[in-house]
Amino acid sequence: MKIQNERMSDLSMSGGLYEIFQQALIMERDGRKVVHMEIGKPDYDSPQIAKEAVINSLNDGFVHYTAMAGIQELREAILEKEQKANCIVADPNSEIIVTAGACEALMAFMLAVLDPGDEILIPSPYFSAYDDIAKIQGVVIKEVPLKFENAFELQAADLEKYVTSKTKALLVNTPHNPTGAVIGKEELLKIAEFAKKYDLVVISDETYDQFLFEGEHVSLYTLPGMKERTVVINSTSKTFSMTGWRVGYAIGPKEIIRYMNKVHQNMSTCATSFVQVGAVSAFQNGKSFTEKMVDTFRERRDLVIEGLSQIKGMEYQVPHGAFYIFPKISDIGLSSTEFCQRALEETGVALVPGNAFGENGEGFIRLAYACSNEEIKDAMALLKRFVEEL
Ligand SMILES: Cc1ncc(COP(=O)(O)O)c(C=O)c1O
Repeated sequence: MKIQNERMSDLSMSGGLYEIFQQALIMERDGRKVVHMEIGKPDYDSPQIAKEAVINSLNDGFVHYTAMAGIQELREAILEKEQKANCIVADPNSEIIVTAGACEALMAFMLAVLDPGDEILIPSPYFSAYDDIAKIQGVVIKEVPLKFENAFELQAADLEKYVTSKTKALLVNTPHNPTGAVIGKEELLKIAEFAKKYDLVVISDETYDQFLFEGEHVSLYTLPGMKERTVVINSTSKTFSMTGWRVGYAIGPKEIIRYMNKVHQNMSTCATSFVQVGAVSAFQNGKSFTEKMVDTFRERRDLVIEGLSQIKGMEYQVPHGAFYIFPKISDIGLSSTEFCQRALEETGVALVPGNAFGENGEGFIRLAYACSNEEIKDAMALLKRFVEEL
């Protein structure tokens, strides 16, 4: 009996992150102290006001299917946030859907827009779900290398080398996981010209739009001629530290959103009813919660940089957004997997090997600084000693 289809055989069933996380949990169970710098989630509780809204909603019996695209109040609250934060203007009735996290929006996009065999350009290293979602559907990823010397900022000129007659879409992620890079407006304008030249549909993953430490976040959607070809995806996961609530969204041209909604209807029908009510409250009342959290992450970013600057052989680019840094370890003489395994065993600091983020990640490691200042200081001191003793 063959229990998996051909496409599944292309999927990697273990990832560098998952393996390190499992190993870290076993070490903790055995009484070892571990600093978790492998996981990409804010270490905050969700806003209390959002929790209360959910409790009230449950008590009011708001427990049935909702409109497939999400409740009207939530679509409007999301668009208000997007208009204020990113100058995105869209019709709440036809140009937005609420999904189970940004991941469902990504899956719905690929199913609705791409056919098996179509190619999508993805800057690499990348958030590993892109690869899995593409492979599940038989979509072919073309990895466009992000270069250390460009501070990992995607360059439009590099995209030209990877476009073929089968290229149908381009994915852009800014602020970026795993490097923390933020693409400047000047480069985004060139990327927009490239997308128009080759008539590509663009998916703009703006999950970390609020995690910006300096400069500005510009949405490709707002650049001239891009609204008709761009789908923005985002969620409450990072913005309000609501990763487990599973509320995300996609904003795009109504012809695409209509088909994404069809996919979404058959995958999940609608996002969870009472959770949507909590998300309305987060969008309406959570701005200062997010701002305080991001201030803390800026401080942590600075602590990580201070620590890394004292470790010889570990070069890095200063991240301007998200909550990751992607130092280069290739000069140290270990593969990224060996480095992370040994660092975990010998120091208790859990990190992710860069090769978990695509073929261009080898020679790097990802540190997520979603932990306390004390933990960061300890981790940096431990890593310094570890590298010195290698
Ligand atoms: C770049 C990027 N996009 C999307 C997601 C998925 O977020 P969600 O929890 O909304 O599905 C993540 C989560 O880590 C991410 O890093």
